Order: sequence, then C-alpha cells, then structure tokens
Amino acid sequence: MLQVLAMLYLWLKAGHVIFVVFWMAGLFMLPRFFVYHQELPENAPENAAWVDREKRLLNIILWPSLVAVWGFGLALAISGGWFTQGWLHAKLAVVFVLSAYHVWMADYARHLAAGRRKLSGRHLRMVNEVPGICAALIIILVILKPF
Ligand code: HEM
Repeated sequence: MLQVLAMLYLWLKAGHVIFVVFWMAGLFMLPRFFVYHQELPENAPENAAWVDREKRLLNIILWPSLVAVWGFGLALAISGGWFTQGWLHAKLAVVFVLSAYHVWMADYARHLAAGRRKLSGRHLRMVNEVPGICAALIIILVILKPF
C-alpha cells in the first residue's frame, strides 16, 4: 500500500513538472507575441492573426497549464504533508505573483485585441523578466528547501 502511494506521489510530481514546463513556455512566449504584434502599424491586416495566436496560446496552453500546475501542486502538498513547511509557504507566495502575472498578461491580450497598446515594446521586454525570476526562486525553494 505504501509503495502504491509512493508511486502515485511520483506520478503526481511528474504531472506537476510537465505542466510547469508548458506554463513557463507560454508565459515566456506571450509577451514576445505582444512585442511582435505591437511592432505592426495599428491598421495592419496582420493584427488579426496576432490576436488569434495570442488567444490560442492563452486558451490551449496557458489557462489549462495554470489549472494543472495548481491541481498537481496542491495534490502533492496534501499527500506529502508539506503544508507545515516554510519553503512551501514562500513558494506559494512566489507562485501567487506568477499567477497574478498570468492574469495581467491575459488582460493585456484583451486590451491589445481592442487596439489599446498600453506598454511600449521596451517595457514589455522588461516585464518579460518576471517569469524567469519567479521560476528561479521557486525552483531554489523546492529543491533546496532552505527552511
Ligand atoms: C501552484 C502551486 C504549487 C504548489 C502547491 C506546488 C507544490 C509542490 C510540491 C508539494 C512539490 C513536491 C516537493 C517534493 O516532493 O520534494 C513540488 C515539486 C516541484 N515543483 Fe511545485 N508547486 C506549485 C507550483 C510550482 C511552480 C510554478 C513551479 C515552477 C516554476 C514548480 C516547480 C516544481 C518542481 C521543479 C518540483 C520538483 C522538485 C523535486 O522533485 O525536487 N512548482 N511542488
């Protein structure tokens, strides 16, 4: 029985890491799409193709991955009894920042689809550093478990 639970834990962890990879890939790609999109003149016919690409990336990769990462992550935390650990609390705080960034990106896509370009390409490139910094912090916390 213990062996089955341990196997299940490893399968949950595999599922978690698979969707972490998909989620991070999407979070890195979307602001790049925004930069290419915004480099077009506002009335260019290619705008519609970028709106479509952004929507697909959000609906096919980003939203399902966000749900799966949270689902697998919480299942791991419950089955491993990790909720008392400081590293998990710190990790969750950073994951909340990453999730807020995701929601902000989805909102930016809606504005862009309506023709509102709220940030410059330079600012979008700067904002694009957020997922990399968060991922580095999260991975250090979960692997080193420093507290
Ligand atoms: C959404 C909320 C999340 C929760 C509740 C959560 C929780 C957990 C838990 C409990 C583990 C198992 C730790 C162990 O067995 O040692 C784990 C593993 C892992 N998590 Fe998360 N996680 C979340 C999001 C993330 C995110 C966003 C990333 C990366 C950006 C991430 C990266 C990883 C990695 C790489 C592992 C494997 C670590 C190892 O095997 O040593 N997690 N997560």
